[in-house]
Amino acid sequence: MNLTMKDEILKRFLLAKDNPISGQFLADDLGISRTAIWKHLQTLQEEGYVFETIKKKGYVLVGKPDKVDPARINSFLTTERFGRNIHYLDEVTSTQSIAHELAREGAVDGTLVIAETQTKGKGRMARPWESTKGKGVWMTIIIRPDVPPSQAPQFTLVAAVAIVNAIKSICKNFMPSIKWPNDILINGRKCTGILTEMLAEMDRVDALLIGIGINANQQQDDFPPDLQTIATSLSIEEKEEINRPQLVATILNYLELYCDQYIREGFKPIKALWEESSGTIGKQIKATTLREVIEGKAIGITENGVLEIQLENGEIKGVYSADIEI
Ligand code: BTN
Repeated sequence: MNLTMKDEILKRFLLAKDNPISGQFLADDLGISRTAIWKHLQTLQEEGYVFETIKKKGYVLVGKPDKVDPARINSFLTTERFGRNIHYLDEVTSTQSIAHELAREGAVDGTLVIAETQTKGKGRMARPWESTKGKGVWMTIIIRPDVPPSQAPQFTLVAAVAIVNAIKSICKNFMPSIKWPNDILINGRKCTGILTEMLAEMDRVDALLIGIGINANQQQDDFPPDLQTIATSLSIEEKEEINRPQLVATILNYLELYCDQYIREGFKPIKALWEESSGTIGKQIKATTLREVIEGKAIGITENGVLEIQLENGEIKGVYSADIEI
């Protein structure tokens, strides 16, 4: 849904920062009564927002709960379409399942489904995805590019490039890299996974559901024992709390930019950006596919996101799906 009246009020406080806003100003600006404004402020307070009253001037927002709510995402957005329609939920089974329903019902291009936690988060290859409450970014973006189904895999690479660049623009104390196909790693540990699903007819994509899971504010002991040594979070590496709504909006800003660029100019510029942030290309790797183990040097990706590995005898093999060890 678009922003509610309560979210519109919150957005104005977020944008005003330390400047007070009066009830009368809000009432005039939004075309509702002062009593209605006051009721919305009360609801916001019940949700954990704290307002200070400045005599004769109005209110200032001085405290916020740690949530990825639509108004806070909206205050960082520069997009035309992406994230302009947000479904925010406290707990879901999986944002992918909600996105499937919404896409079938005709959700517009750029619709975002985001939750504080998932009880049945899905990873690639039907693996479960750990979604600790209030600590990560668990979201699915519905996009409706006018392309044939064969081009769908390229959008996962577009998403990886958007996420890695959003992380780079917010975090300054480390360098994230993309591990083929779509994991984002920091110092060898995974902080982000992407799962793209598709609704399609034979010759055209109806909707792509780009599911993104980012470990943002977990500390090491928030991870279950089996993930302790292989997962990390942005906050662990940055040594600072991550502003999750800002991260979400920054990803959407880059994603709209790169999706539009892809539609205008094709895959070439995206491939270049992907390779620039890749931690796989140029490395000696071991790829375990369902059928075989391939060892060699990762030399690039094709237009379809296929990883090309050069064997010791010079032969080049393309890998569509595999677990990679570097
Ligand atoms: C992977 O690396 O295996 C992909 C993980 C994708 C997880 C995200 S979290 C939001 C969205 N909802 C899900 O159930 N999965 C994706």
